[in-house]
Amino acid sequence: MSVDLPVAVVTGGNRGIGREVCRQLALLGFSVALGARDLRKGELAAKELDPDGARIVPFHLEVDSTLSVDALAGWVKERFGRADVLVNNASTPYDRWATAGGADLGMVAEAIDVNLFGPWRVIQALLPLLRSSPAPRIVNVSSEDASVAAMTGGSPAFSVSKAGLNALTRLLAGELGRDGILVNSVCPGQPHDEMHPTGRTMAQAAASVIWAVTLPNGGPTGTFTRDGRPFPW
Ligand SMILES: NC(=O)c1ccc[n+]([C@@H]2O[C@H](COP(=O)([O-])OP(=O)(O)OC[C@H]3O[C@@H](n4cnc5c(N)ncnc54)[C@H](OP(=O)(O)O)[C@@H]3O)[C@@H](O)[C@H]2O)c1
Repeated sequence: MSVDLPVAVVTGGNRGIGREVCRQLALLGFSVALGARDLRKGELAAKELDPDGARIVPFHLEVDSTLSVDALAGWVKERFGRADVLVNNASTPYDRWATAGGADLGMVAEAIDVNLFGPWRVIQALLPLLRSSPAPRIVNVSSEDASVAAMTGGSPAFSVSKAGLNALTRLLAGELGRDGILVNSVCPGQPHDEMHPTGRTMAQAAASVIWAVTLPNGGPTGTFTRDGRPFPW
């Protein structure tokens, strides 16, 4: 693996949108660190996407564990000596059956630990490397359910945790702009599956994320978009 290629770290890269983001990043010329909380699943995904292992390397990462996140930062530094892009994709699923009024707050806390504190931990751990990159990007994979303007009830754990993630995007964009680090939230949209037959393709959902990775230096920061177009906060 070339040490000259820019390095992208993707959390929750073993399946779904994260897996497709890894594929697209490799095609764009990144060395990709594919994070998976079950390393065997990560190894399988990396092997399928990149049989030669030339571009995509799996690593073990549980974003709700400070130990695991610190180990990741050490591993990235040792293996690549750099980090240019961080895609915070790992997430708990929707809790569509739940209501805010009756929510199990333990479940809400778990969602916040994964969906808000998880990205926050990984960002803090990788910031020293990102600051040294010539084109650093942080992409927080959010959701339309994070849109406070559109909330009408339901999915409380998921919605509140992702709305918190969007707030983190705004705070970091303001703080890190002077270091040239672009920080953006992206809604990938609902991919097609059995329950959502009219959903988008996985490639479209991932491309929405890639838009924020490929912004030029000096490009937009602190945004919330789908397909590069503003999404209501
Ligand atoms: N699908 C949608 O409709 C939709 C819509 C809008 C936004 N999004 C967002 O887009 C992103 C990807 O969605 P998706 O549908 O592709 O998700 P997904 O298929 O449910 O995959 C989630 C990924 O996160 C990993 N993960 C969960 N908890 C983790 C933890 N504690 N530490 C590390 N990894 C963890 C999962 O690992 P395991 O495989 O081990 O479970 C999996 O790799 C998420 O942030 C999601 O909220 C999705």
